[in-house]
This record gives sequence, C-alpha cells and structure tokens, in this order.
Amino acid sequence: MFIDARFTSALLVLAVALGAIEGRAQTSKQSIAHRGASGSAPEHTAAAYSLAIEQGANFVEQDLGVTRDNQLICIHDDTLERTTNVAEVFPARASKVEMRGEGRQGPHWLVNDFTLEEVKRLDAGKWFDPKFAGAKLLTFQEAIDLVKGKAGLYPELKSPQLYKSRGIDQVKLFVDVVRKNGLEKPESLKTTPVIIQSFDEEAIRRVAKDLPTIPRILLIDTGGDVSDARLREIAKFATGVGPTKSLIAGRPALVKSSHDLGMTVTSWTFRANEKTSYPNVRAEMSHFLYDLGIDALFTNDPDQFPRQRTQNDRPF
Ligand code: G3P
Ligand code: CA
Repeated sequence: MFIDARFTSALLVLAVALGAIEGRAQTSKQSIAHRGASGSAPEHTAAAYSLAIEQGANFVEQDLGVTRDNQLICIHDDTLERTTNVAEVFPARASKVEMRGEGRQGPHWLVNDFTLEEVKRLDAGKWFDPKFAGAKLLTFQEAIDLVKGKAGLYPELKSPQLYKSRGIDQVKLFVDVVRKNGLEKPESLKTTPVIIQSFDEEAIRRVAKDLPTIPRILLIDTGGDVSDARLREIAKFATGVGPTKSLIAGRPALVKSSHDLGMTVTSWTFRANEKTSYPNVRAEMSHFLYDLGIDALFTNDPDQFPRQRTQNDRPF
C-alpha cells in the first residue's frame, strides 16, 4: 500500500508530540474535545477545557470569534444569545444585521458588537446547568494558557468572511497571537501540538503561508465535494481534511484517497447523547477509527474515545 511520505511525516509529528505530553497513548488515533468536554460542561469555558484534559483528550478545540475591540474569544456561534445571558444583561443591544444560518428566529446579539470587557460580564454557564453559573467565555490567550503543555490546541477560524465584511482581518489577529506565544516554533509544537481548522479555503491557504510549521485541515460540511479531483486540489494547501461523518459514510473511499495524497482525515461530531444506529458513541467512534480508518475525530465526550478496538466495540 503506497503511503505518501508527507502523510507519515504529518502523523509522525503528531504522534511524537503527543507522546511527549505525559505519555499519552502512543497511538496515531487522536481525540479532539469538541468545544471542550461539551457533553458534560458548558462549551468553551474553563470547566469544559479542564474536564477535556482530565478525560485524556489529545486536543482541545477552540472555535474563534472576534470582539469589537479585536480580541479573539472562544465561541462557536457568531452571536451570544445561545450560550450566554446577553439578552438579560444587554436587552437593548440586539444586533440590526441579518444573521447567516444561525437558524434561530428572534433577535441576535453579534459577538463583534461587544467589547471584551462587556463579554466578560456575561454568564456562559447557567444556560447549560445552574451548577455552572458564573462561568465565563475564554479569550484565545486564556485557552492557550490553560491547555498549553497539557494537551494540543485545535483552533477553528470561524466565519472569517463575516469579519472581513466588517473590515476585520481575523486570520491576521490569529497569526499574531500564535506568534506572540511562539506556538509555531518546533520546540513548542513538541509539547503543545497545534492544528488549525476552517471551512474557509482562503483562511487555510493564508495560514499555509503565514504558519507553515502548523498542520491545517479544511473542514467539509455535509453535501460538500469530496471527489478525488477536489481532494487533489485540497492537498495543495492543506495537510488534512475534516469531512462530516455522513460524508465519510457516503463515500468511505475518501479516507484512502486522502491518505494516498498525504492528508490526514478527521471527522465530526461524535456525541454520547446523539441517537444513532450504533449501540453507543464508543462503538460509533470505533467503527470510524478502526473500520473506516480515519485518523482523528471531534467528540463532546473524550472519556468515551476508544484508544483501540475492543471486543464489545462491535458496531452492530
Ligand atoms: O470544527 C469541527 C466541527 O466542530 C465543525 O462543526 O459547527 O461544531 O464548529 P462546528
Ligand atoms: Ca468547530
């Protein structure tokens, strides 16, 4: 079987780097805590990130948004109302702009309309469970300080085009923080691996130039193009692809095609509370990792990640 040298070197970088962190399992399969251990704690809070590290996640994910004073914060949505009490604290500050695909009716409070000081006044925990009341959204810098040396960082450049339309260069802000912390330096990558992700091709092409030492994956949503021709194109600027579970289930051959092009394959999202045809999320993850051959996956429940296939992990 032909394995492209780039692929083995990308995997080698990852395995060696991970091996260095407290002897985490020397395996090529990796778990990424999706928004932290968001199955058990409010996403993108210190509680969710710390629990992910406790649960042995190889990487902790940060979805990145930008405040009005150009601070990178960890938040999935472009708006604040789903995961904070912004409607209570700033009732009169709902945004006038039409929101892309947030899918929720009603007023929206755009992250970029609020300064970091204002965002830090919000409660980002009680929506999930009252026991997390008072939890705060993290800045990217706080996430780096919390995770560094304990696990890898997996930042997603979320909605760069939205920020571009507001005159903000999210990629530059990101590159500046990475360089300020020396995260791209080979020495740092040994103890704190970093992988950059985005749905935005332009953003991935830019970090390929600005941060060439850091692996980067192009996320591909359901219905996206995963033909061999498209994968060949992606392999010119990305070190890996991030297709949804359903894309892989629909075309399992994309895993071998990507590997033959020297790219890793990382899929999403595996949730213990999601009803699927599998007996449990562990069996589902096992099937994608050990039958379909993906290299890594995003999960809300890192404690369920199967380090190797075990007998009772039979998917059906
Ligand atoms: O980043 C991988 C996966 O998390 C993409 O989906 O919407 O959860 O960011 P989303
Ligand atoms: Ca994400």
